[in-house]
Amino acid sequence: MTSTSRAQGATVWLTGLPSAGKTTIARLLGDRLKAEGRRVEVLDGDEIRRFLSAGLGFSRADRFTNVQRVGLVSEVLARNGVLSLVPVIAPYADSREAVRERHGQSGTPYLEVHVATPVEVCGERDVKGLYARQAAGRLTGLTGVDDPYEPPVDPALVLPTQDQTPRESADAVYALLAERGLL
Ligand SMILES: Nc1ncnc2c1ncn2[C@@H]1O[C@H](COP(=O)(O)OP(=O)(O)OP(=O)(O)O)[C@@H](O)[C@H]1O
Ligand SMILES: [Mg+2]
Repeated sequence: MTSTSRAQGATVWLTGLPSAGKTTIARLLGDRLKAEGRRVEVLDGDEIRRFLSAGLGFSRADRFTNVQRVGLVSEVLARNGVLSLVPVIAPYADSREAVRERHGQSGTPYLEVHVATPVEVCGERDVKGLYARQAAGRLTGLTGVDDPYEPPVDPALVLPTQDQTPRESADAVYALLAERGLL
């Protein structure tokens, strides 16, 4: 479908460990969808934390609140025809479930994509140097290392990015959207 006011929106939540590839995949997919005329937003975790969730930390309660705020914004966008791509760690299953329920209440599609890169690979990528800082004892509470990560039990898609190029991973999410009739 080309871009029309009747386009069906959706939230695609990319959950996974730090350096798993969430932002990379969301940006690649977002660029492709925009080029095809879709209305797309990428709600990136880092940008959200600078503004919408400024002041929140990384406790369980703050992580939960952060995910609910992003989930609210994403649902509003998706309900209004936008494809909202959300590369946010969201380590706790109950926080993702609450977002799913919010979407369910308005009949808005919510797809969970598990960017399932093993922690060893994430630690080698270490895009932001977090794994190195944790290993050096200069940071605590790193998701997947010394803070919990609860993997999705029933994701719409699992991406083993250690065996894929970023383009292949983004194309797999594109194929999922096509399969669900969301393009
Ligand atoms: N198949 C793939 N998909 C996505 N990224 C990949 C893939 N293969 C290698 N990479 C590389 O892995 C890194 C992922 O970094 P990225 O910032 O996207 O992670 P992130 O999940 O957003 O992390 P954070 O939670 O810290 O924001 C990039 O350097 C990217 O080029
Ligand atoms: Mg990121």
